[in-house]
Amino acid sequence: MTQKGVALVTGASRGIGAAIAKKLGSQGYLVGVHYRSGKSQAEAILSEIKTAGGKGFLISFNIGNPADITNTIEGMVKEYGPVAALVNNAGITGDALLMRQSNEQIDELLNVNLRGAIVCTRECVKSMIKAKNGGSIVFISSVVGETGNAGQSVYSATKSGLIGFAKSIAQEVASRKIRSNVVTPGFIKTDMTENLTDAQKESILRSIPLERMGEPEEVANAVAFLVGTDSRYITGEVIAVNGGMST
Ligand code: NAI
Repeated sequence: MTQKGVALVTGASRGIGAAIAKKLGSQGYLVGVHYRSGKSQAEAILSEIKTAGGKGFLISFNIGNPADITNTIEGMVKEYGPVAALVNNAGITGDALLMRQSNEQIDELLNVNLRGAIVCTRECVKSMIKAKNGGSIVFISSVVGETGNAGQSVYSATKSGLIGFAKSIAQEVASRKIRSNVVTPGFIKTDMTENLTDAQKESILRSIPLERMGEPEEVANAVAFLVGTDSRYITGEVIAVNGGMST
């Protein structure tokens, strides 16, 4: 396997991020397995990557804290080399009707889901530009960032925001051979969707033409395509992985 550069995957200790980290590890990237609090889970993902013949390292910072992001990514670049790929996956939900959402909850959603991805991107793009070797950035948005969803207005706003940001960055850094794309997952089986009630799950299933929830690996496959050179002429694009839900 040819060794490729550093691929930082945020929120890689579980769910979709873990599947992306494993996939990129299997493709020869030196995977930065990012976590915040799930150290033992992140260690298990890294050891799976290594057992499969891949390479990686652990990296921890709070996506909600810009200074923490900047300092840690700078240290990562010094230790492991320039960033070849960034997958902005970490995110939280905060489902509630807008009327019941406090300023603190709104701030937290915006800071983690949107500002966090923006600051990670700025820090990684600095490294990509300096290395003069191009790069690829992928944002994990959501189907609700395209359709909207009652009870998820602020979450949806952060996910739509990622699309606007990704398309703008695609134009800003295209001349540096850096690409920026988005994946919008539908309903994927992870801890995030585990807590839905059976009634919610049934209603969701009725809206999915392929009649099932997606697997994290199915999102990871689309991300790997966008990270790798097979998609070298694609930038500013949004790929839905949602079983055919209409957007
Ligand atoms: P998850 O809850 O299993 O994983 C989220 C990850 O983000 C965790 O590793 C968590 O530690 C990390 N994270 C959260 N807050 C953080 C913070 N302040 N600092 C650092 N890391 C933090 O969620 P899942 O389902 O794997 O989701 C991954 C991404 O996919 C999220 O951005 C989510 O919004 C998006 N998504 C998920 C869908 C689903 O059906 N599961 C559907 C559409 C989008």
